[in-house]
Amino acid sequence: MPKVHFVSALQDLTVEVAPGTTVLEAAEQCGAQVGHSCGGVCACSTCHVWVRKGLASLSAQEDDEMDRLDQAFDVKPMSRLACQSKIDGEDLEVVITEESLTAYLDENPDTRRKLIAEEKWPVRK
Ligand code: FES
Repeated sequence: MPKVHFVSALQDLTVEVAPGTTVLEAAEQCGAQVGHSCGGVCACSTCHVWVRKGLASLSAQEDDEMDRLDQAFDVKPMSRLACQSKIDGEDLEVVITEESLTAYLDENPDTRRKLIAEEKWPVRK
């Protein structure tokens, strides 16, 4: 089974998942902090990630995903929407963008408060 390694400013996690799983589902399985404001229906860009390894093995990008990615910050050739990217048989290395991590913490204020108290996340002014 393919392994997905998630990296962010706050986390470094790896999970093994079945082929056909989306990158967002993999994140949810291991607690990786990937934002998903629309619930994974390609209606936002908060699940924007950079796929540093294994990009070509993911399911093809559809027009809807490309349109949504146009609204994301700091888009790169390795950018994908986690909810639209199905994993094949290859291992992946996925960077959780600051945009996605910030969205996750907006969706999970208790986690953000805890991180602020531990001085692991900056207080917004
Ligand atoms: S969660 Fe909204 S587009 Fe992926």
